[in-house]
Amino acid sequence: MTSTSDLVEASELALPTWAQLVFLLCAVGFILALKGLSGPRTARVGNLIGAGAAVVACALPFFYADLQNVVWILLAIAVGTAIGTVGAQRVQMTQMPQLVALFNGVGGGAAALVALLELQHFTERGAEVPVAYLVATGFTVLVGSVSFAGSVVTFAKLQELMTSRPVVFPGLPFAFGGAFVAALVVAGVIVGEPVMWAGVVLGVLGLVVGVLLVLPVGGADVPIVISLLNAFTGLTVAAGGYVLQNTVLLVAGTLVGASGTFLTLLMAGAMGRSVPNILFGALKGGSTLGAGEASDRPVRSVGPADVAILLAYAERVIVVPGYGLAVAQAQHTLRELVDLLVARGVRVDYAIHPVAGRMPGHMNVLLAEAQVPYEQLVEMDDINSEFKQTDVVLVVGANDVVNPAARTTPSAPIYGMPILDVDQARQVVFMKRSMRPGFAGIENELLFDPRTTLLFGDAKDSMGKLLAAVKGL
Ligand code: TAP
Repeated sequence: MTSTSDLVEASELALPTWAQLVFLLCAVGFILALKGLSGPRTARVGNLIGAGAAVVACALPFFYADLQNVVWILLAIAVGTAIGTVGAQRVQMTQMPQLVALFNGVGGGAAALVALLELQHFTERGAEVPVAYLVATGFTVLVGSVSFAGSVVTFAKLQELMTSRPVVFPGLPFAFGGAFVAALVVAGVIVGEPVMWAGVVLGVLGLVVGVLLVLPVGGADVPIVISLLNAFTGLTVAAGGYVLQNTVLLVAGTLVGASGTFLTLLMAGAMGRSVPNILFGALKGGSTLGAGEASDRPVRSVGPADVAILLAYAERVIVVPGYGLAVAQAQHTLRELVDLLVARGVRVDYAIHPVAGRMPGHMNVLLAEAQVPYEQLVEMDDINSEFKQTDVVLVVGANDVVNPAARTTPSAPIYGMPILDVDQARQVVFMKRSMRPGFAGIENELLFDPRTTLLFGDAKDSMGKLLAAVKGL
């Protein structure tokens, strides 16, 4: 008969005090990493501290544990390191959400596999296992497989390997509900008695739940679901840490679970949506996000020379970067333009909307890459009161984050999302390629406002011409 204290004692005996201390230091490293990642100045150091702590935590078992299959483990580490390094180096900034989805998915899948192995150990031991361990094992198998399957579908949607529109079919809610209830029943079986077949069935049901959970989510909401699945993976890893009696897994998993949950809620809040609406909106026919038609209503458009004069002779200019800036990779030319304007005595800031682009902090990362000074980046809440006194707002590849429909049109999918108050400025210049709408697929009335002019073309191309025109003044 094995009791909780026996299991705990056994695992603690296997872990010498010095190793427990190093694990504790790694856990502190993860916390410091999160602290560092909370600001652009310290993010790089924070990232390095987190990565260093992860390397130490992974290497530690080689020094205290009686490991078997060491060659296989080293081979797996080598393959994983090679794929991770090449993948991270090659990925484009706009593909970052896909990469996060993949990394997150394999994390959840790995945690589920580890829990299945532990279940096998429980069955082999033939002794009574404390209920808390069995609950944690069942939870890890189920949620880990949900996270794995869900992340694979989010990856496929973002990589356009499948349609990014919501996929719904008759009976989807029943299939989802049925699979979920069946998973709970099978998890109950495991808690009653640790049997391997139940673990495998639970894993398969988890995969079905994961796929059915993400299929109805529209492309625009996928980054939020990635963050939610990230939180799931964190909780799975934490539960796995409890099963394995490993403090560092418990701490790291809890940190990921908590920060993923906060990020999900913050992103949903910044888009004026609730998480249930994002997940289940399409089932009620409410998720209308997606591609929209290009408008043929008349607008005022000008060339780079006119915009150059507007900008160069203004006192106050605010730049609003958006997803199109990232697509065009125009950030370096934009920085040059802003530097030139500042040198001419114009006061220029960048207004950063929390969900501009396609991932949290997208614009901060993009502009940091172009060495834009941090003090020029001003968050939405801090800059909104300044648009009234602004001569020209230059909107570069942004649309939804300045669309007044978020305030005025209850039927709009972005209704309720806080926006940058660009419509209060004296003049607005939009740089975009066409009259196609933004991610939400709806028209933007600000494009037709008498104070608005459009500079059509790819943002990088237009920005180059604009820079040359300002230089020539
Ligand atoms: P969008 O509303 O998607 O607008 C992007 C604009 O960029 C479009 O008007 C597009 O017009 C233009 N564009 C695209 N490529 C361009 C290029 N090469 N040169 C010039 N213009 C180009 O972007 P936004 O204002 O940044 O808003 C973000 C949207 O994503 C919001 O709806 C937000 O809710 C959603 N979202 C964000 C996140 C996060 S965390 N950031 C997560 C999920 C969803 P043309 O096609 O005419 O050029």
